[in-house]
Amino acid sequence: DDLTRFIYAMPKAEMHVHIEGTLEPEMKFRLAQRNGVSLPYSTVEDMRASYNFHDLQSFLKIFYEGKTVLLKEQDFYDLTYAYLTKAASQNVLYAEIFFDPQMHTDRGIPFATVMNGLTRAQADGRRNLKIDSQLVLCFERELTAESAMKTLEAALPYRQHIVGIGLDSDEKNNPPDKFREVFARARKAGFHLTMHCDLNQLDTHEHIRQVLEDIQADRIDHGGNILERPDLVAVAKRRGTAFTVCPVACGWLRENGENINIIRGMLDQGLKVTVASDDPAYMKSNYVAESLVVAQGDGALSKGDLLTLARNSFEAAWISPAQRKIYL
Ligand code: HPA
Ligand code: ZN
Repeated sequence: DDLTRFIYAMPKAEMHVHIEGTLEPEMKFRLAQRNGVSLPYSTVEDMRASYNFHDLQSFLKIFYEGKTVLLKEQDFYDLTYAYLTKAASQNVLYAEIFFDPQMHTDRGIPFATVMNGLTRAQADGRRNLKIDSQLVLCFERELTAESAMKTLEAALPYRQHIVGIGLDSDEKNNPPDKFREVFARARKAGFHLTMHCDLNQLDTHEHIRQVLEDIQADRIDHGGNILERPDLVAVAKRRGTAFTVCPVACGWLRENGENINIIRGMLDQGLKVTVASDDPAYMKSNYVAESLVVAQGDGALSKGDLLTLARNSFEAAWISPAQRKIYL
């Protein structure tokens, strides 16, 4: 319909997508074949059917299995170029792409292999698809702070290719404060900061508080539970903290209606909320436009709201004022 066409055509930025979460079953099969990796599925349909999870932990289990086919620089290139192609087709002009280097370096793949594949695809995307992008390195929070620090050190030679540092994976007993020193060091090195506070995790309000008050990150990924804490809403508004909400991802814990209410509520509170896709290949290929269609849910958002979400996405982006002016 008219609103759906409007959503696809609207110029937008994507602020929350995990590149490893864009591995579509077809590509996973193709890369497995190319690399001689055997998969526990005989068809793409079987694989797609196995993408069945009910909470963050069961999702992560499936998500981590996918990495086994990513081995060579060309694999990381193909993965990233496919995402950029898809995003550009939905009029995404700019994307900040999460990657989890520990997923790869922990199984012996050199940091350089990952970086070279990603950055070569980004350069080709810029040239061929007219989509600009930057990388955000995420630490896996169930791993140690020492491992995160080592990863940060490995990233320093690539400083010009990495705009920010994030925190993802299993939140249970892994609060943001666990990485306080690593984030302080990252900040000193000039990186922007964001971290996941997925919906309805254990101690989620305390995690949000730590991100806002202790670490003072620029953004929170998800973070919808802030609506239950007016005091934290006030802090986020005062600090101009942006939120990257993924309505399809959050759907694993709440009915869609509740997710829509979260985005509606964050807009009504005047929070700088953006809508993004998270791990689209694992979420029934809901990329950013489809996620906006879900968020719009039968009229919950007006065209004006949708434009606000798009404007927020460019305002939340870690780009220069000159570049922002081109988009807005
Ligand atoms: N949450 C936490 N960890 C993740 C996610 C997510 O949405 N995607 C990939 N790793
Ligand atoms: Zn995420």
